[in-house]
Amino acid sequence: LRIATVQFAPVLGDPAASVAAAIPLVEEALEGADLAILPELADTGYDLGSARAALELASPIDVNPLVGALARICSSLGRHAVAGICEREGDRVFNTAALVGPAGLLGRYRKLHLFMNERDLFAPGDLGLPVFDIGPCRVGMLICFDWAFPEAWRCLALDGADLICHPSNLVLPYAGQATLVHALVNRVYVATANRIGAEGDLAFTGASQIAGPDGRSLAGSPADAPHVAFADIDVARARDKRFTARNDALEDRRPDQYRRILG
Ligand code: ACM
Repeated sequence: LRIATVQFAPVLGDPAASVAAAIPLVEEALEGADLAILPELADTGYDLGSARAALELASPIDVNPLVGALARICSSLGRHAVAGICEREGDRVFNTAALVGPAGLLGRYRKLHLFMNERDLFAPGDLGLPVFDIGPCRVGMLICFDWAFPEAWRCLALDGADLICHPSNLVLPYAGQATLVHALVNRVYVATANRIGAEGDLAFTGASQIAGPDGRSLAGSPADAPHVAFADIDVARARDKRFTARNDALEDRRPDQYRRILG
């Protein structure tokens, strides 16, 4: 199984222009890979300014223009894609990751941990941490600032994710170090698709990265240019949770001693 991160700059407030910017890179990715991962809010851009502007730009997931474009490509090539989108449901807006396959939309994840002013624009996620079996591998999704919450990564590993797709608009420079460690301690693959460019005072850090279950970076992108990075996924490696012949990342846990974490 080959995957690819698609790094680009969505166009703030202009989903049609964002889709036009993304599609050539998605085509490049899916000509060589089975699954492409795009950044967070890849349709609208990030700094939407006000709740009203976010509501006006957001679209229901089944009519989202980026989801539609990805579904057409995935259908014609028999591939999968994950992309961050601005999702409207009624009068609420969610920072969502959509999973698309050859038959169209397969599932979604709504960001649980909202960063800074996102709290003014989005409702916090309410769909938990689903894992989707796409055939050759099981996929979980997290979005950007979710990197700071190891509990979420652990839940996905416990529910059998082989690969955690991580659409991002990262601004803090050390997030890439954390995702290498999440990959290592959960023994999963992690694909962080970050954006580039700036919006106002926010400078996005690029450097998209695919991490392996040994915590090493398998592929990466530059900090400031559109780029597609490819890596091969060996699902058997993600399903072998042993650190040593006598130590297993999941089985050695002591949840009876971790009760503090529930509160
Ligand atoms: C972020 O969560 N977009 C930093």
